[in-house]
Amino acid sequence: MNIQIPNSLSAINIATGVHQYTDMAAHEEKGPHIMARAEGVRLFDDEGRGFIDGMAGLWCTALGHSEQRLKDAAMKQMDVMSYTHIFAHRSHQPAIELAERLTKRAPASITRAFFVNSGSEAIDTMIQMVWYYNNALGRPEKKKIIGRDRAYHGVTAAAGSLTALPYKQNDFDLPVNDRFLKVSCPHFYRYGKTDETEEQFATRLAEEVESLIIAEGPETIAAFVGEPVMGAGGVLIPPKGYWPAVEKICRKYDILLVCDEVINGFCRTGEFWGSETVGGIQPDIMTVAKQLSSAYLPIGATLVSEKVYEVIAAHSPKNGVFGIGMTYGGHPVCAAVALETLKIYEERDILGHVQAVAPLFKERYDALASHPLVGEARCTGLVGAVEIVADKDTREQFAPTAKAAPTVYQHTMEQGTFGRPLPGDGVAFCPPLIVTEDDINQMFDNLAKGLDLAAADLAQHRPA
Ligand SMILES: Cc1ncc(COP(=O)(O)O)c(C=O)c1O
Repeated sequence: MNIQIPNSLSAINIATGVHQYTDMAAHEEKGPHIMARAEGVRLFDDEGRGFIDGMAGLWCTALGHSEQRLKDAAMKQMDVMSYTHIFAHRSHQPAIELAERLTKRAPASITRAFFVNSGSEAIDTMIQMVWYYNNALGRPEKKKIIGRDRAYHGVTAAAGSLTALPYKQNDFDLPVNDRFLKVSCPHFYRYGKTDETEEQFATRLAEEVESLIIAEGPETIAAFVGEPVMGAGGVLIPPKGYWPAVEKICRKYDILLVCDEVINGFCRTGEFWGSETVGGIQPDIMTVAKQLSSAYLPIGATLVSEKVYEVIAAHSPKNGVFGIGMTYGGHPVCAAVALETLKIYEERDILGHVQAVAPLFKERYDALASHPLVGEARCTGLVGAVEIVADKDTREQFAPTAKAAPTVYQHTMEQGTFGRPLPGDGVAFCPPLIVTEDDINQMFDNLAKGLDLAAADLAQHRPA
């Protein structure tokens, strides 16, 4: 590759950066789109153009970009003590208070918090805890983890093994082996049979989970892991009854129920937790990150029930320590910011605000369902997507080479709103939780225009 020595910021970025989740060959042509500053729910690029942050960054900037209390919380903690760890019996006030507040706000089953730096680490820790738990119980064969097609659980080697999307699994040689099993994705629009009701679909998928458990042997299945509402796989909302049925099956076969709440958690889906939105299930383990600190600083957690904690704790003397910990796990500055974030959610009744503006969000999604490019418009709380199709009647999709969702994304961005193209040709919105009705209207006006412009571009790609 022949890269010129650059003298502008964007050229430097091409020459020295290795971008995350980027088509690097295309990047050499296009270069980066540089964000220069942010205010409230808006981002501004280095040419001064403003955009609604319609994806809350990466599903995370819940309180927008100008929350003085979070900046103050970080500064205050840095003044008091910039760092100490939580290894080997040491602790500090922000981690103690955060664990307390977080577990109190969690579903009743959850009583303990283990802090990490990201969603992927929360998942990785969860996987290791599940295996450790079963070793501690003298069940070395009970290790298989059931995940779902189109799931997103992060990118580290173990978490990536559960992320059932081709771009994550192809060519990385992840340890995706017979310890990671996969069942169908609970998206009725795409995978329901023509003669099936949504209820029947939920039952069929739950039966698939149970059949797999029986076929593999319940004594070999350790956990079922899923995002209550699936996020990066396309914003896929499960049919009513699906999760309670899965929960029942897990209980029947002594299988740990794990809810990945990395996107769902903290009011995103219209309740405080996704596990409430999908039927009030009680997970044994929950993973959280992102909105935990409103993305002001990186922090996540693996939250566990007392049942799981007690087994792990009793086993830990065997090797001297419970051998997981990250230098920055529970970092005091990150913990202080997360604690302040949780206080703001409560004090300002962010959940009440989400529930107040969500009907408009839904109304605007519903209105897009009749657009010629939109197969399904779906949402819950303040997260949703339109699924782009080439033919509304047959639900046929455009060929991948048409880049249907990226085309809609690009036009919508040019109108002034960031969405996100997702696998399966979804285009998602997941704005900061503090969006106003005016912001929502602007986002959807931009998306509607983006869809019209994309329809013209994509006309040549429609199947004959
Ligand atoms: C449900 C879910 N789990 C885990 C992750 C991984 O989180 P991170 O990117 O912080 O590692 C993500 C990221 O989007 C996610 O959506």
